[in-house]
Amino acid sequence: MAASQPFVEFKLERLLSTFENEVEINLSESGVQPLTMRELLEMKGGDTDAELAAVADTALNYPQANGALELREAIAAWYPGATAANVLVTVGAIQANFTSLLTVTDPGDAVVIMQPNYQQFWGLAQNLGRRMNTFSLRQHRGWALDQDELQDAVAPDTRFVAIVNPNNPTGRVLRTEERAAILSAVERTGAWLLSDEVYAGAERVSDEITATMYGDYDKVLAIGSTSKAYGLPGLRIGWVVGPPEVVARMWAWQDYITICTTTLGNKLATVALSPEVRPQIIARTRGYVRRGFETVARWAAGRDDVEVLPPEAAAICFLKYAKKINSTEFVMRLLREKDAFVAPGDLFGLDSHLRVSFGLPDDYVAEGLARIGALLDEVE
Ligand SMILES: Cc1ncc(COP(=O)(O)O)c(C=O)c1O
Repeated sequence: MAASQPFVEFKLERLLSTFENEVEINLSESGVQPLTMRELLEMKGGDTDAELAAVADTALNYPQANGALELREAIAAWYPGATAANVLVTVGAIQANFTSLLTVTDPGDAVVIMQPNYQQFWGLAQNLGRRMNTFSLRQHRGWALDQDELQDAVAPDTRFVAIVNPNNPTGRVLRTEERAAILSAVERTGAWLLSDEVYAGAERVSDEITATMYGDYDKVLAIGSTSKAYGLPGLRIGWVVGPPEVVARMWAWQDYITICTTTLGNKLATVALSPEVRPQIIARTRGYVRRGFETVARWAAGRDDVEVLPPEAAAICFLKYAKKINSTEFVMRLLREKDAFVAPGDLFGLDSHLRVSFGLPDDYVAEGLARIGALLDEVE
């Protein structure tokens, strides 16, 4: 982007950062109730006080810049055929996404993104001077992938296709034939496929972890994070799993951006991803997701002005409301008048929707929904 061109702000992230820590009821986040360090270390099953003391005695040095070897090995273990050489540890999935686009595309290249979506690539692609096209998940078809639109959007010159699976904000998980359609589109054009899989592990209706796209095609960059399915957003640990030469080039960008992540983040993420602890975290996450959506479903069933397609994964649903008010305006009123907060649909590319988070204690979710309902009752 030339300095003279208008900068496209990441409005969603800025809105969340501005209000999420000061509002009374916050249903704007997409992860579950965060774990404490004690809760995480308790899952190791040993002497938790000794574990905590060991953390207290950790020297706060720079960790290995591309991620501690044991963490990269722990991550690689969950991806078929991957080794530590396929993994770069990043400051959240957000940095993994950012450096992926920087590394495998050039200014002027065509990139294609799924909509509705976490809008990182939507703004980033424009700011980095990439040409952008989109394809949709269709609400009236239960958020199914519009395969015709996908085939039209992915052209011979497409260099990069970005999907989020399970999807934010809808919680939709791609079906086998939809995955196949995406793979055939990228294979046809030789484009890179970035598969943002940060919600894998937070399944509501299945006990299977959503399969990674890694291994399905040689130009896949699979993105993960401890922020969502693991309830550890404050660690700021994300990763990319991809071909070693691309991962190495991404690391070269990281040298300029953040150097590395943190020592404590590497240590604690290694615990979270271990074979003993990971299943416990996933069970906890799914517990929040499953209970939380029941609360939402009960509330929605009692109203005639909201409609929600049950999400298959993630602690969020994309709720459609039948009132004539812009979603950002609704959210600003919710903040001012009810001291509650959700994410507005227009910032995901679809107005008249609210993204509501429910992976939190039941009473808290119920109170937030009651406040949304009270405001809906007041608007036309
Ligand atoms: C799809 C998706 N990718 C990436 C991120 C960023 O997550 P992280 O905290 O790992 O940087 C988010 C956060 O909401 C997200 O929803």
